[in-house]
Amino acid sequence: MCGIVGGVAQRNVVPILIEGLKRLEYRGYDSAGLAVINNGDIFRKRELGKVKGLELLVKADPVPGFVGIAHTRWATHGKPSVANAHPHVSRDTIAVVHNGIIENHEQLRATQKQDGYEFTSETDTEVVVHQIHQALETADNLLAAVKATIKKLEGAYALGVMGTQEPDTLIACRKGSPLVIGVGFGEYFIASDVAALLPVTRRFIFLEDGDIAAITIDSLVIYDKDDKIVTRSIKESQLTSDSADKGEYRHYMLKEIYEQPFAVAQALEGRFINGRLLENAFGHNAAEVFDKIKSIQILACGTSYHSGLVAKYWFEDLARVPCHIEVASEFRYRNPVLAPDTLIVTISQSGETADTLAALQEAKKMGAKYSLAICNVPESSLVRESDLVLMTRAGPEIGVASTKAFTTQLVTLMLLVIAVGRRFALSEKLEQKITSELFGLPGKIEKVLALDSEIEVLSKQFAEKEHALFLGRGTHYPIAMEGALKLKEISYIHAEAYPAGELKHGPLALIDADMPVITVAPNNSLLEKLKSNMQEVSARGGQLIVFMDETLHAVSDSNVQIVKVPQVENEISPIVYTIPLQLLSYYVAVIRGTDVDQPRNLAKSVTVE
Ligand code: G6P
Repeated sequence: MCGIVGGVAQRNVVPILIEGLKRLEYRGYDSAGLAVINNGDIFRKRELGKVKGLELLVKADPVPGFVGIAHTRWATHGKPSVANAHPHVSRDTIAVVHNGIIENHEQLRATQKQDGYEFTSETDTEVVVHQIHQALETADNLLAAVKATIKKLEGAYALGVMGTQEPDTLIACRKGSPLVIGVGFGEYFIASDVAALLPVTRRFIFLEDGDIAAITIDSLVIYDKDDKIVTRSIKESQLTSDSADKGEYRHYMLKEIYEQPFAVAQALEGRFINGRLLENAFGHNAAEVFDKIKSIQILACGTSYHSGLVAKYWFEDLARVPCHIEVASEFRYRNPVLAPDTLIVTISQSGETADTLAALQEAKKMGAKYSLAICNVPESSLVRESDLVLMTRAGPEIGVASTKAFTTQLVTLMLLVIAVGRRFALSEKLEQKITSELFGLPGKIEKVLALDSEIEVLSKQFAEKEHALFLGRGTHYPIAMEGALKLKEISYIHAEAYPAGELKHGPLALIDADMPVITVAPNNSLLEKLKSNMQEVSARGGQLIVFMDETLHAVSDSNVQIVKVPQVENEISPIVYTIPLQLLSYYVAVIRGTDVDQPRNLAKSVTVE
């Protein structure tokens, strides 16, 4: 992944680069670095760990500059280290920041070594900077050298390049990895995401795949993949620079958990008229598309995959719409069979997940005619590449562990179930029932949030544990999966989820007093089956923690901890039962003292495969 920021201005760009990097830390935080051109020379600072470290380094020894590039890294090739941190420099004259993966880096490295280039890092990026240096021997200028270089690169990249020969120029290009140009007054910036540049501009140009831009303070020229000069429109971002503030909360994750009643209300806002879902909420030609489709194929990764799993149950159970779902990274390489008139539904918080984007492209190559994105970032690649779109409207989600993005995905997926389901077996009556339940959801979530202190106390039991099992059935099986994912992501406790009926086929062997078993037990038709599964755990001395409907009669004892969850209707119950599991993971992680918002080895947006 990694994050890129760069700028050409009539003022010192270093504070802008540092602030931009902080706003991009969600993309990776193994190391950070920046380089500026000052008096015709390149000055570079790099530091292991978070941007804070780089900031201290720069404060201690300032290096101002009007042209600069900066980077926050999520290690792919080469461990996190200062030597592997970007920018990479060739012979003190060219500096490069890179996002993506250069797949043919080994061949390029071998040739460059023969040509006398010395390598100081283990990264795939270093070949790019040497290649540009070499190309400059015969090219007219930096732009031509970068153009010649990218012809030799295989893989994905977004690049920011500057060189001492043309100290006022910044070159930016992209293929497969996102890059935007921020348009200021008498200044230009580049970044992997608009969020990085919101303190300096809200006007953005979204570079298209294959674009290359030559930037100085008073000129911006963009060439497309066929080397033709093109005009790309400037778009005004709706985001504000303070929309990603932690406020009174200790962590972004807790803030985002608490934002869910509002976020869910936003996801519904303006999408109904007289209590009936408006189909043009999905795009102006949505009704025509929905009329034609015969099945759904969902593609997503991580938490977004889990929301898709719930939707599969909903599509088939509530509306009899045939629905398949697959992890995007498997779908894209599996050579799957796609039925005609399938709607491809991609789900992604960021809209930049490389595997999800590639799976969509793969589906299109296979002949898929219709695509719809459920996404949280309006300016993202996924939104731009999909025919229909339904924004989740969760607002910026900063914590790496996804919370409000997940629940708003579930809400918007339910809207899709309604819209498509009308053409299948979803009755008018059931549609009205679900609609009224959805509007009651913010209030239900408020009630569940009131369990906060009870769950905080409960979480103390986990502090010493190294393993946990999550059980659920039906639509609550994916919720158990999401609960296990949350726990492992932020507390580093090994956690697995099982459909409760599978317990006896293996995981039961693991049950003992050191393996807490967290069970999601709403009051539905599967409850009696689930109770039998819980008995199987108790009979073997296992410790149960049960999130159970408040109307059910059960009391805690030494082996079973019951948390009563406010009564909720069956259809929307998975959304509500997500909340206590988020709180549980959060408090366990806080007790264990992990970095809740930026857990080790992970990143918020995964733009490499
Ligand atoms: C990363 C994040 C997860 C997220 C997944 C998919 O792994 O850490 O929280 O669920 O990517 O991201 P997307 O933006 O496509 O939903």
